[in-house]
Amino acid sequence: MSLPAVSVSFVPADRSVGTEIVAELSRYGLDVWCDDNVLRDGRLQIDEVEEQLRRRDVLIVLLSTASERSAWQKMIVGAFCSLIAQGEHKTLLPVRLDEGRAVPLLLQGTPWIDASDRKARDIARLVAQALGITEVSPTELTAKETTQSHDDGAVRASDPPHRQPPSPSRRGTQVFAIANQKGQTGKTTTAVNLAAYLAEAGHRTLLVDMCPDADATTHLGVDAHRVGGSIYELLVNDDVAADDAIKPNLNPNLSLLPAKVDLYAADIEFTYLDQREYRLQRALEAVKPQYDFILIDCPSSLGWLTVNALTAADGVILPLQCEYFALEGMQQLLNTIRLVRDRLNPRIHLFGVVLTMYDPRTKLGTEVVREISEHFPRERFQTVIPRNVRLAEAPSFGQTILEHDPRSPGALAYKDLAEEVIARAAAIKASSA
Ligand SMILES: Nc1ncnc2c1ncn2[C@@H]1O[C@H](COP(=O)(O)OP(=O)(O)OP(=O)(O)O)[C@@H](O)[C@H]1O
Ligand SMILES: [Mg+2]
Repeated sequence: MSLPAVSVSFVPADRSVGTEIVAELSRYGLDVWCDDNVLRDGRLQIDEVEEQLRRRDVLIVLLSTASERSAWQKMIVGAFCSLIAQGEHKTLLPVRLDEGRAVPLLLQGTPWIDASDRKARDIARLVAQALGITEVSPTELTAKETTQSHDDGAVRASDPPHRQPPSPSRRGTQVFAIANQKGQTGKTTTAVNLAAYLAEAGHRTLLVDMCPDADATTHLGVDAHRVGGSIYELLVNDDVAADDAIKPNLNPNLSLLPAKVDLYAADIEFTYLDQREYRLQRALEAVKPQYDFILIDCPSSLGWLTVNALTAADGVILPLQCEYFALEGMQQLLNTIRLVRDRLNPRIHLFGVVLTMYDPRTKLGTEVVREISEHFPRERFQTVIPRNVRLAEAPSFGQTILEHDPRSPGALAYKDLAEEVIARAAAIKASSA
């Protein structure tokens, strides 16, 4: 019988575990070659994986999402799982090494070997059996029978029962998600500068950075690589309190709940977190009374991070860039708001539409303003944010526009927008009192 050449990738199990398994596998006469090159700088090297698949019959992927694994490792498991789930690489053999629940969820319908918490020798036997190698049998094996497994929903069934969400605080704090799944529409610029002017007007304001690229954090002059506690820990760890992560009073009345790159992993971790739609709402509950306004800068996607923002918010502020196709994709966001309102948060509504990067010299800009006024006569803010180079350069100084150039047209526009937001929020509060 010709034995398959087996290449083992230590993803993201550590090298010592991987090496032990390789040693055990070689006892079956397999041509084992191990490599952890598929991981570099914390990223999955797809080209390297493709190369391994060309050279080898089988690539065993050791997957582990135990709680002590870093966010990067979990993210890489996610990347591998999506590669495997796409089904294009039949020779990838996924092996789950621990009880982490992400792998079964991510690999639904795709066969994987369950070697949770087995010894290296047992794992090797399970792998050999999956490869159909039974002739060479090492002695003294103690593993249970092979458990090549398909996810059949059992993991879901054993999930903790869905408890009722915590009831939102009605102490008067207004929480707004700054959202648009389209990229580069001015979400972060609006979140940071609106927050700056709300704070300047005397309102205690918290800016929550829900974007893995941490643009709002950097914009406020905070180094996202050195923040320590951040929104990520708050979302995935029940033992972290918001006060431990918040940078209070960066400017008078303006505090920041920062983000860092680990947040990229959160979308994967959410798949096995309890009450995953309510993580942010729950995290903010304790600190809400300390603020008049909480603004959440959302990422350009409608994943778990945005769903969490919409579940925690009272309203959505939607920045629309004055350009062709400004309304493109908006239906998706409006549908998502509707879904969240029906199922998760009855308070959520479209609080306002703000037009950004307006250039009065172009006919297009004027047309977009007219079109939005027709579609959203009540939601549209009268203030239109002009295209202004001062707004574009302020982030590189780690400054809000209020600090960078308070007399610039961009600054004056955000000041006006803040006044509109304050007045509209007060009107809504008065009408619902
Ligand atoms: N009014 C404006 N005038 C000039 N440049 C602007 C203006 N608003 C935003 N920009 C610039 O446009 C780019 C996109 O803006 P911003 O980062 O706020 O958008 P975003 O929607 O948060 O993007 P992403 O989807 O990447 O999170 C940035 O470089 C920003 O500095
Ligand atoms: Mg942004």
